[in-house]
Amino acid sequence: MSGNIVNAMTVSGGGEPKPFLLDCDPGHDDMIAMMVAIAAADIELLGVTTVAGNQTGDKTAMNARRVATLVGEHTLPIAKGCERPLYRELRTAAHIHGSSGLDGAALPEPSVALRAEHAVDFLERTTLASSRPVTLVPTGPLTNIAMLLRKAPEVREKIERVVLMGGAMHESNVTPVAEFNIFVDPEAADAVFTSGLPLTMVGLDVTYRALFEEGDFVRLEQLGGPVSAVVAPLLRFFAGAYEKRRGLRAAPLHDALAVAIARDPSIAETRSFHVAVETQGRYTTGQTVVDTHNVTGNRPNAEVAVEFDLPRFKKIIFDAIAFLDARASGDR
Ligand code: RIB
Ligand code: CA
Repeated sequence: MSGNIVNAMTVSGGGEPKPFLLDCDPGHDDMIAMMVAIAAADIELLGVTTVAGNQTGDKTAMNARRVATLVGEHTLPIAKGCERPLYRELRTAAHIHGSSGLDGAALPEPSVALRAEHAVDFLERTTLASSRPVTLVPTGPLTNIAMLLRKAPEVREKIERVVLMGGAMHESNVTPVAEFNIFVDPEAADAVFTSGLPLTMVGLDVTYRALFEEGDFVRLEQLGGPVSAVVAPLLRFFAGAYEKRRGLRAAPLHDALAVAIARDPSIAETRSFHVAVETQGRYTTGQTVVDTHNVTGNRPNAEVAVEFDLPRFKKIIFDAIAFLDARASGDR
């Protein structure tokens, strides 16, 4: 699926590309996550599944198809998933991502079809059929993943690691203590965090530092390619929403950081902690309770990202978009 790419897009050490599945809710930062996964030579992107989150299920599925079309990934398997959380009403984020879920620039009409099968069935079939264990990168609410583990627990043997964007140790965005992906479907998140699967949590504590700022937008505009020409205004829109909401004149590329860490863990520093998901709290539902001092005595169940290399991260993003620009222009 992936391009055969810019050297910088290959993790040192080479070797066969790692099979990845991306479960997302595009979403501006999910879009960048898709682009990194598509561009990386050391990722074999087996497919993209979508879930309701940033916008409704129809809109996030359409957005994934538009992004794949924009970057010329015309055969990328895309399957639409759950339209609402396991037990709760859906909460979307139009105030951040707009009414389409990817406001800020015109995206092409999709040339990439949706798979007929449900995302959970696609995830099950693709994971079990993979010749090598799969890295699963959820960057939206964890509804599809929880349903997958419930429907086909045998997939656990074929999942190498789940690297999810979600939660936080000390940060929040949707309530004073909760992050959006976890808050939208806390029961699904609880199922994932108690699954026993190898898990890396890429939370707001690091993703709020994965910032694209004015200089980065200008640099994107200077790339002058068909992909960067659309990405720049989209990220400017995204940054504008954060400026209004948090006074943050920048676009936090939450989901792209999760893909970057899944692809090359050396870009980040993680600590082993026990993480519990609050599902009952009157004020705290959706909180990831990270036991940073092991006061509970519970065995750690997640690698929690605490630091990362921002310059390396930015280079990954620019290299990916430059590659996709060149490919879309026919230069590659
Ligand atoms: O809280 C940030 C997360 O929620 C990101 O994945 C963003 O795309 C939204 O899904
Ligand atoms: Ca997302």
